[in-house]
Amino acid sequence: IAIMRLLEEKIKTDGKVISKDVLKVDSFLNHQIDPDLMLEIGKEFAKIFANEEITKIVTIESSGIAPAVMTGLQLNVPVIFARKQKSLTLYESLLTTTVHSFTKKETNDISISKKYLDENDKILIIDDFLANGEAALGLVDLVQQANAQVAGIGIVIEKSFQPGAQKLKDLGLRVESLARIESLANGVVTFISEKVE
Ligand code: G4P
Ligand code: NA
Ligand code: NA
Repeated sequence: IAIMRLLEEKIKTDGKVISKDVLKVDSFLNHQIDPDLMLEIGKEFAKIFANEEITKIVTIESSGIAPAVMTGLQLNVPVIFARKQKSLTLYESLLTTTVHSFTKKETNDISISKKYLDENDKILIIDDFLANGEAALGLVDLVQQANAQVAGIGIVIEKSFQPGAQKLKDLGLRVESLARIESLANGVVTFISEKVE
């Protein structure tokens, strides 16, 4: 809970509202990375998912990697990142799926080598942002192609006014987001936690 307040503070002080839909957090998450903050984020995800018997973490390059690695460090499990481009040295067979970004108006294949996931895995998916949920749904698809189980999804910043979180929950998936943004209207970040009930 302390880390959730700290993250909200960091978003308020260092984040820039670009439009009613987009928050820029280049100073600690998407370009420059704050390792201390990432470590605390990793500890929190490890605590939240402690009873899920996670065997591996799956994320997507590039900005999911920092929080995913810190979580893997805490849970003592490997971290796999889906690639957006085919690697020159990736000769093995791949699990591949298509992800459409409404924000970037582009469609991309993402892949993971088959050899890193199997039917005994219980996977924790980690990502930096949850917007429309397309990236997360793509990761869920890759995990399911491997006949592995999705034990949960950990998100650093959820834009709760966009449909991703609900889509994932409607599939019966456990979604845990550390910061949940209710609105970016009028250049102001409002968190769900600040709503007067
Ligand atoms: P979706 O997966 O939830 O549908 O999201 P979308 O297609 O809209 O997101 C495309 C990219 O933009 C993703 O990064 C995502 O993390 C990022 N993104 C979405 N909304 C925001 C936002 O409000 N602020 C910031 N800073 N990023 C946002 P990516 O292209 O995969 O890039 P990378 O940073 O992981 O390399
Ligand atoms: Na991103
Ligand atoms: Na991401």
